[in-house]
Amino acid sequence: MRRLNGRAKVHGAKNSALPVLAASIIAADRCIIRNCPDLSDVHSCLNILRSLGCTARLEEDIAVIDTSGMTGCDIPESLMRRMRSSICFLGALLARTGSVTLCLPGGCELGPRPIDIHLASLERMGADITERAGCISCTAHNGLHGGVVPLSFPSVGATENVMIAACTAKGTTVITNAAREPEICCLADFLNACGARISGAGQSTVTVEGVQHLHGCVHTVIPDRIEAATWLCAGAITHGDIAVSGADVSHLMPVLPVLEEMGCTIRAGNELRLIAPERLRRVSVRTMPYPGFPTDCQAIVMAAAGVASGTSFFVENIFDSRFKHVGELRRLGAHIRTEGRAALVEGIKEYSGAQVDSTDLRGAAALMTAALWAEGETIVRGLEHLDRGYQSPETELAQLGADIIREDE
Ligand code: EPU
Repeated sequence: MRRLNGRAKVHGAKNSALPVLAASIIAADRCIIRNCPDLSDVHSCLNILRSLGCTARLEEDIAVIDTSGMTGCDIPESLMRRMRSSICFLGALLARTGSVTLCLPGGCELGPRPIDIHLASLERMGADITERAGCISCTAHNGLHGGVVPLSFPSVGATENVMIAACTAKGTTVITNAAREPEICCLADFLNACGARISGAGQSTVTVEGVQHLHGCVHTVIPDRIEAATWLCAGAITHGDIAVSGADVSHLMPVLPVLEEMGCTIRAGNELRLIAPERLRRVSVRTMPYPGFPTDCQAIVMAAAGVASGTSFFVENIFDSRFKHVGELRRLGAHIRTEGRAALVEGIKEYSGAQVDSTDLRGAAALMTAALWAEGETIVRGLEHLDRGYQSPETELAQLGADIIREDE
């Protein structure tokens, strides 16, 4: 249990890099993606591009992709399974080749993750979709066309797929009830730099005027707002005084008031500084689509609330099953009760060290955060979850003064 002090760096956003890399397929050209994080999910994405005959490499934080010589249009099942967000290839492959078969990633640790909104939207744009033995085939031999595409829920992935597919569709596509996450804006900026004509990204209605061809470009991925929030929670739980560099404060607007409600002082300038109180205070959190509180931050804030004074209340509105970390936090001594999508967290003074298992990416981050304020040693197993979304988190935390090491299992 050490008070963290110092500076942590934020890398490029995983959830921006993945759709941008997938979208490079419709550029059919060379794209240079800067600030690309070095994560296992990014490597899975690069492997998918290679399996399709594209060239793809990551040097430091620059991904160089050339999709001009792409030969395939089907993603092998083994690669689909390795990265659940591989659904982000659907719109790009369909637009580029007019035909794509992919096997569904299946259920996941966050509960079932259906893709009905993706499929219904692409159908509206002229795709024929058939499903057999867990695999879906989409064809659009006469090309996709525009029109109004209303989303029944502002799904991030569906908004991205439709936006990508609409770039070279005939006519104008108007996506209503679109997701408004910063990652949508990053993808639209990338596509526009490739010659697309997208307006309204970041708002509920996104308009895409189809063009004939796209071309390559140089694009910079936005900073990872969830990684930034993770370092802020690490500072908060350890009563620390930390600075986070490289974050975009505007993307963290849904999170900062929650940390302030917990008693933290936040100063936003060139860096984001967080000064935590002697004891965090209780908080109420309801996850919502952006600009609401992000579901990806629910677990890490819950870890902090676990040692706050009073009883905190969480409602998870985005995913069916995103409380799997609760059982593991309990092993560290947390007093948490859940019912359906709600959790009541009765704050204790400190956690006690134990062996815990990561359940999913953000659950793993929550366990790592809780371990920072646990008496004795905590062993967090299953780091493959953490490595999907955090680049050397132990180095970043050790720089802040945490007593943390990585050991091979
Ligand atoms: N949904 C449907 N049908 C669909 C699509 C979504 O029912 O066709 C449901 C999902 O099952 C879920 C909700 O709608 O309950 C939200 O899903 P959404 O499509 O918005 O999420 P996503 O695109 O699958 C992205 C991030 C997630 C993040 C969510 C919400 C990527 C690669 N993933 O997922 O990130 O939690 O948006 O913000 O961008 C993470 O980084 O840990 C992570 C899970």
